[in-house]
Amino acid sequence: MNIKITKSDHSRISEIDFNNLQFGRDFSDHMFEMVYKNGKWQTAEIKPYSQISFGPSLMALHYGQAIFEGMKAYYADDDTINLFRPTDHHKRLNNSARRMCMPEIEESVFLSGLEELLKLDYSWVPKEHGHALYIRPVMFASEEYLAAKVSSEYHFYIITSPVAAYYSEGFNPVSLTTSSKYVRAVKGGTGEAKAAGNYGGSFLPAKKAQESGFTQVLWLDAIENKYVEEVGTMNIFFKMGNKLITPPLAGTVLPGITRKSVIALANEWGMDVEERKISIDEVFLSHKDGNLSEIFGAGTAAVISPVGHIHHDGDSISLDREKIGPFAEKMFNSITGIQYGKMNDSKGWIHPVKVK
Ligand SMILES: Cc1ncc(COP(=O)(O)O)c(C=O)c1O
Repeated sequence: MNIKITKSDHSRISEIDFNNLQFGRDFSDHMFEMVYKNGKWQTAEIKPYSQISFGPSLMALHYGQAIFEGMKAYYADDDTINLFRPTDHHKRLNNSARRMCMPEIEESVFLSGLEELLKLDYSWVPKEHGHALYIRPVMFASEEYLAAKVSSEYHFYIITSPVAAYYSEGFNPVSLTTSSKYVRAVKGGTGEAKAAGNYGGSFLPAKKAQESGFTQVLWLDAIENKYVEEVGTMNIFFKMGNKLITPPLAGTVLPGITRKSVIALANEWGMDVEERKISIDEVFLSHKDGNLSEIFGAGTAAVISPVGHIHHDGDSISLDREKIGPFAEKMFNSITGIQYGKMNDSKGWIHPVKVK
């Protein structure tokens, strides 16, 4: 894989306060860039993180052909940085690309781009346990043309950002509310793709939920407003007895890599995992029956996020817990243990990158 590399002649790392990292605010010295035109991807480049410039007729701005990924790299030791399930993120990126009529990227290009970037910017991967280097691959239509059609040009970037532990102040269970007015996705739409527009459309309902004192919206299905789907940037799990229940991947839910990891570990631990439709009424009933012991979200940012409270249609349930439940905590410790190379990676989820 031929990548043209131009190193930055001045590192900005000394300007970064690693004790006060804000998610997604600081960016490491280099970025990966690849341009698609004349029907193919052109030479890949790694160059200093810099501004990009486009005309106001940039098609991505007008017609929304834009997709992204979100993944993390973890400090294992001075020579090794661990990428977590990068080939799964690559597959999902290509699934999103197909849905949005955008060109796919070869796995070898994606992986060597990540590896070379990490070799240059490994000192940006925070060493403290819980901290990580967040990785954001993004692709958008870059033809400058006001026509509602598929673009003939695209830009693909990978930028990285050091981030602090999500739970620096302990696990705070989140409170969720359903919405009777807004939906995130409908079958046949773009909900299972990581398309930028899915997020833009969710901001108004999320803002209204926050104004009413809730952390995020618990999305219900768009047809019957009855079945649970997912949360802002997390898939959702319900623990009922020895059963773990999560909504199925039936076209509206983003297929989370953390979700997939939770299911694999729970299966390994002998849990009965059900990927099936679960109605909000069933969740409330099982809480009433004393059968619902834990609710948690799963996603790259927080890994596992305990849910303490759900509000729906004038009614609410609370799990009366100030912190994370024992099952969710075990899951959190196991996944992060594997990510930081402290626990055996029997499933081959870790892609170690030798940076020296
Ligand atoms: C809508 C949505 N659902 C679920 C997830 C969780 O996916 P993952 O575990 O791959 O981060 C994310 C985050 O990427 C998301 O944006």
